[in-house]
Amino acid sequence: MFNQSILVDQFGRTVDYIRLSITDRCDFRCVYCMSEDMTFLPRDEVLSLEECARLVKIFVNLGVSKVRITGGEPLVRKNALWLFEEVGKLKGLNELVLTTNGSQLEKQAAALKSAGVKRINISIDSLQAERFKKITRTGDLNKVLAGLQASKDAGFDGIKINTVLMRGSNDDEAVDLVQFAIDQKIDISFIEEMPLGEVDHTRESTFVSNADTLKLLQSKYSLLPSTESTGGPARYWRVANSHTKIGFISPHSHNFCESCNRVRITCKGELYLCLGQEDKIDLMPLLREFPHNDAPLVTAILNSMRIKPKGHDFDLRRAQPAVIRFMSHTGG
Ligand code: 5AD
Ligand code: SF4
Repeated sequence: MFNQSILVDQFGRTVDYIRLSITDRCDFRCVYCMSEDMTFLPRDEVLSLEECARLVKIFVNLGVSKVRITGGEPLVRKNALWLFEEVGKLKGLNELVLTTNGSQLEKQAAALKSAGVKRINISIDSLQAERFKKITRTGDLNKVLAGLQASKDAGFDGIKINTVLMRGSNDDEAVDLVQFAIDQKIDISFIEEMPLGEVDHTRESTFVSNADTLKLLQSKYSLLPSTESTGGPARYWRVANSHTKIGFISPHSHNFCESCNRVRITCKGELYLCLGQEDKIDLMPLLREFPHNDAPLVTAILNSMRIKPKGHDFDLRRAQPAVIRFMSHTGG
């Protein structure tokens, strides 16, 4: 039996899912996510892993049943495994899941499974090593594929690829990537590029709409619409006669906000009520001022529900990014 979440916003949406970024650092520099030269936060401005564990525990006590650990690249944080083990032990938590670029999975997949991680999302934007290097600026495709294999060997059955297609870069790989997912018996989601942070290209120049990708895939595969939902932006299709589900995360064309069930916590302890809006509260001062008393944090979190925005608004033609902070700061 799990508790019903008591986090309910002014639109009646229940928040039972948190996404926690445990670092803004990453060993990759994906072109849609980061600029070439990034400055990262000094260590003391980032939550300690103990502070992360404390926050997750508070949220789970408030009825949150699903936690996604993200980054940056969460697995490059020293001792990240400790946090997974602590969170994995929490009673009331239904699902502990991870978003990663896969670079460290070869070493860590088995331990993550033992810690209680249920599912893993791995970002793979290309199956061509040279192109993969170009998109990630530093990434090694073979290492990521070895990480994927290690995750399968460790017994994870909920593995999903996340792909961002960009015009003129990897937009000719949708079918190859789906075929790869089918062969690997895993899932894949296509995420439309979002204007988060200032990168080295204009978002409009690379934008590929999921509607076009879906049309293309429908001409190659028999896709069956699925009613599955995780309360988020993804719409799913099953590939007939396969184990594979294809998700489309289309923040530009779909307004999925009416069923939004999540909030995000940055590695600085900012609680963002929406990925595409600035509304937030800072939890770090409360964590540090009241190390042994959770009441002020609980009150702040309960109050934050009043400022969860109705929805986001991404406009690719806007000169400024919709949101100044990078995805690596807020957490994917
Ligand atoms: N737009 C869309 N997806 C992004 N990601 C990172 N930055 C962006 C962006 N600006 C993706 C990563 C990862 C997922 C969590 O988010 O590729 O797969
Ligand atoms: Fe790192 Fe993920 Fe951003 Fe790529 S998208 S730079 S892997 S945080």
